[in-house]
Amino acid sequence: MRILGIESSCDDCAAAIVRNGREVLSHAIHSQFHIHRPYGGVVPELASRDHLEKIIPVIEKAMQDARLDWKDLDGIAVTCGPGLIGSLLVGLSAAKAISFVLDIPLCGVNHLEGHLSAVFLEPPSPAFPFLGLIVSGGHTSLYRVQGFGDYTLLGQTRDDAAGEAFDKVAKLLGLGYPGGIAIDRLAAEGNPEAFRFPRAMSSKDTLDFSFSGLKTSVRYFLDQRGKAFAEEHMADVVASFQEAVVDSLLIKLSQAVGKTDIRRIVVCGGVASNSRLRASLKRISEEESLEVYFPSPALCTDNASMIAAVGHRYIQAGKTSPLTLNAQANLQL
Ligand code: KG4
Ligand code: ZN
Repeated sequence: MRILGIESSCDDCAAAIVRNGREVLSHAIHSQFHIHRPYGGVVPELASRDHLEKIIPVIEKAMQDARLDWKDLDGIAVTCGPGLIGSLLVGLSAAKAISFVLDIPLCGVNHLEGHLSAVFLEPPSPAFPFLGLIVSGGHTSLYRVQGFGDYTLLGQTRDDAAGEAFDKVAKLLGLGYPGGIAIDRLAAEGNPEAFRFPRAMSSKDTLDFSFSGLKTSVRYFLDQRGKAFAEEHMADVVASFQEAVVDSLLIKLSQAVGKTDIRRIVVCGGVASNSRLRASLKRISEEESLEVYFPSPALCTDNASMIAAVGHRYIQAGKTSPLTLNAQANLQL
């Protein structure tokens, strides 16, 4: 079964063809970084207008790269939420039109289920149950994953998402947008113990996260020490900030392992491509005999392969969506 996946929930316009839910035949992506960079964050109206221009060329590229004809498709999977409503509607409208014209099934996919499923596109696949941590620009949520489609929320951020903290701190430091990759690179040259930033919500009472205090503490630090000091110690500042984010995530993962007795962990979403997070979790997993899985970086950030993979499972099970399918900005998992 060949499924065309479409993802347009935020600032990436992506299409992919996945065979039998696992084999990525092609993936095309148009990134809008250059559009949002001057603003230091995603501007929703600019995002949806750009999706409108790029959605058809991106889908056509995915079809050409897979060397497929339209009649070779068996279904269309499309992100229907959560995300920016204007951006979602563009992907959804394109998906509906293709499904209607080709008379093949349509399947609305939850973006978060997509992130949690990206890990199944590459061997080895984790067994169930596992702890699934989604860390992205819009979400920081920890789930107990019992099986496909069977998720229990254990904790989530009470304010900013981890990726949002990366982007906001990068903006404060003038490192540009998107901030995560810039901080990751620069931090490799710095000392993560040079400065101490807070690890919020470290008590065992909750598996929730919080990152807005960390961002504020970086701002106070910069105000107190001054611009010249920050510029001179930039690598140490970002390495210390990044260490606080990584520690905060690791503290909650370790508490979740203790509470659930599940020793298998999947980390996904854009921030899961952070090199320090990957290295630290790998070290801890060896010390504490945990099984840890990360999708490769291109499958951590937003992509359409993960949406096609989820759509495949639902379409195969006969769970399709009507052509009246709507977008939901706050769709829950
Ligand atoms: O999953 P994603 O592509 O989009 C959302 O669903 O939000 O995640 C994007 C987020 C951005 O905040 C970006 O700064 C962050 O992931 N990110 C990173 C890295 N690469 C992307 N954060 C830290 N380190 C990275 N290497
Ligand atoms: Zn995402």
